[in-house]
Amino acid sequence: MPYELKSARYLARDALLQAVNAGDTVVDATMGNGHDTLFLAEQVGPEGHVCAFDIQESALESTRALLEAHHAADRVTLFCQSHAELAGSVPAGIAAAVFNLGWLPGGDHTVTTRTASTRQAVLAALELLKPGGIVTICAYPGHPEGEKELEMLIQLLSSLSNRAYNVLRQTFLNAGPGAPECFVIQKLRSYSQKPST
Ligand SMILES: C[S@@+](CC[C@H](N)C(=O)[O-])C[C@H]1O[C@@H](n2cnc3c(N)ncnc32)[C@H](O)[C@@H]1O
Repeated sequence: MPYELKSARYLARDALLQAVNAGDTVVDATMGNGHDTLFLAEQVGPEGHVCAFDIQESALESTRALLEAHHAADRVTLFCQSHAELAGSVPAGIAAAVFNLGWLPGGDHTVTTRTASTRQAVLAALELLKPGGIVTICAYPGHPEGEKELEMLIQLLSSLSNRAYNVLRQTFLNAGPGAPECFVIQKLRSYSQKPST
């Protein structure tokens, strides 16, 4: 296939392809219609596990149907719960957590991810990562809450200790205002103590 620069969610997927292996436990923090959940379920295989979160029952229904159609439902737990609460539901030592912010495609645009809960969830996911694990975040600043989330993420992620994490920010500089952004945060393989954020 000819090489092409790809949009934020495909940049995130490229990183996940490198970081996630068969047998891993991973998190989809924003399940939506389940496309990322299915992608993760395929990467971890039958021995791995995906914990997927959304606050809308309709997201769980779409995701369940997609997983069943691909015979991958057995390795996924669907939580109708805010990702802000993921620390109470996910075991430590995850290989990856995926955030695709915003609203459910084709759904109610007022039900979108929010700055405060996104912050809480990203911090929780970073804590749960095993050394070498990654958090990917696709942010969409083309709407007011998305703009606030992006500002919060830049501030939060810039403040992470570089002795604990590497933080990458990718965007198309010439795409105009509101262009999606992709962040990839990796917990250093040498990490062995609680990060000072
Ligand atoms: C852009 S969509 C995700 C798309 C999805 N990853 C996919 O592959 O189809 C964002 C999702 O985040 C969900 N969401 C909003 N606030 C949330 C929260 N606090 N916790 C978990 N999910 C949330 C929305 O309901 C929406 O379904």
